[in-house]
Amino acid sequence: MESAADYLPKNLSLTSLRTAAAGCHGCDLYKYATRTVFGEGRARARLLLVGEQPGDSEDRAGRPFVGPAGRILHQGLEAAGIAPRDIYVTNAVKHFKFIERGKRRIHNKPKTIEIRACKPWLEAELEVVRPELIVALGATAAQSLLGSTFRLLVSRGRVIAQPGLRAPVVPTIHPSAVLRAPDSETRHAEMRKFIADLRIAAKALATGLPPAA
Ligand code: URA
Ligand code: SF4
Repeated sequence: MESAADYLPKNLSLTSLRTAAAGCHGCDLYKYATRTVFGEGRARARLLLVGEQPGDSEDRAGRPFVGPAGRILHQGLEAAGIAPRDIYVTNAVKHFKFIERGKRRIHNKPKTIEIRACKPWLEAELEVVRPELIVALGATAAQSLLGSTFRLLVSRGRVIAQPGLRAPVVPTIHPSAVLRAPDSETRHAEMRKFIADLRIAAKALATGLPPAA
């Protein structure tokens, strides 16, 4: 199967990875998106956050989480006492997948095969950054890290250590789920739960983590 593995540079650094990922044809998504949106943040961040895939704004800007979902994420992090300078933020899939509706580009969920094809970039980011803890934002990130049988709603807000993981993972919802809430009461409730999950991550970092698997 084609994957990002064919495009990995020999020497791993965030700079070499970013440059190599810009030319990745590891799956078909590069054909439609504007550019690869690689992760960014602190090179030795203690906390690495993984989203699903870039959205329309991220595809235009070339940076992760700069659109509406990013605003929710950054509000959540601030409320949980996690400083932007302490994190590295990336996505399970590095190209924007969408359906065109007139002039709009509507988010289209990546398939398992695309999540797998893109995993070598995430693996390489984890190897370079060596975070102590990972936050999986939503089911796609959780699936990429923990496997497709993982049930997000059962395990959100827990610190999960599993063989083969580079660091324990705290799964939570995707910040877009807060935006999709049907009314403001539900939105506030979702935001509170999202912040509570992020606080669990912050506390785990402050008080110590289960040993790496
Ligand atoms: N949603 C994501 O999962 N990632 C982004 O970078 C933006 C929106
Ligand atoms: Fe490569 Fe990932 Fe983009 Fe597919 S989505 S082309 S694997 S960077």
